[in-house]
Amino acid sequence: MILSTHRDHLSRALDSARSRGFRVGLVPTMGFLHEGHLSLVDQARKESDFVAVSIFVNPLQFGPGEDLDRYPRDLQRDLSLLRSRGADLVFCPSDGEMYPDGEPQVTVDPGPLAERLCGAYRPGHFAGVLTVVARLFGLFRPDVAVFGQKDIQQAVLIRQMVEDLEMGVEIALGPIVREADGLAMSSRNVLLSEEERPEAAGLFEGLQSVLRAFLGGEREGAALRRILLDELGNHPLLNLQYAEVVSPETLEPVGAASSGSVVVLAAYCGPTRLIDNHILTR
Ligand code: PAJ
Repeated sequence: MILSTHRDHLSRALDSARSRGFRVGLVPTMGFLHEGHLSLVDQARKESDFVAVSIFVNPLQFGPGEDLDRYPRDLQRDLSLLRSRGADLVFCPSDGEMYPDGEPQVTVDPGPLAERLCGAYRPGHFAGVLTVVARLFGLFRPDVAVFGQKDIQQAVLIRQMVEDLEMGVEIALGPIVREADGLAMSSRNVLLSEEERPEAAGLFEGLQSVLRAFLGGEREGAALRRILLDELGNHPLLNLQYAEVVSPETLEPVGAASSGSVVVLAAYCGPTRLIDNHILTR
């Protein structure tokens, strides 16, 4: 596995892979890897010949008062996980290597899709995400990049950016990998206390109760949302930020849910903010 901390080195390694005719796959991450990230590495392996992973905790996407300082990191552990998973290259730049001239002057405006859901509570977050992803696409020029459905608004925005700015990168989406009790894997789960950890699984129970109602024939978006709120109400440690049934394209709430509609939510469990979603299917 090639380890790269500098852009020049990265660029030479990628040129060499391309000169061998390899199709380059990229999995962007902020590290502290778990099985969710690693499943994206497996998916990238299926869709490309040279699997590159980036590990960079991007300061641009954290707002003031958010958990940039608390964000968990363990590079040695990440590297050994990626090595055993068969990644070909890992790029882990310092802040100065990623942004040599300091914060970029030109950033990506994510547009209206970023105004709702997480974007409404995290101003500037998606501009920071899209700016770093655009920069990573510039550095790697990947044929395909793999993202997780876990961060569905992020994935929708990245697809829109690639389309609107003609970036010529294929975007693949990997399913949500969960813990045994249903909690979506997240680097932030280690921040949950012993008391909070079982409560956090209530988010998945809420999503499951909506799916059951949908499968039982309930289609009204507002009724499905109410079922979710009722279930989450049973978990006093969960402090809900938003919960909605939305269209996968527009992220707008739907009047009537159909196959493909997405139940999305964000909640604080103690001081830790968690997000989750479920695509309704029959
Ligand atoms: P990070 O939170 O590290 O996530 C990296 C990728 O892993 C994202 O595409 C995310 O959706 C995916 N992922 C996270 N948890 C998952 C799970 N339980 N199952 C499947 N996939 C999961 O998302 C980011 O980093 C950053 O915003 C980034 C895109 C790297 C830009 O800085």
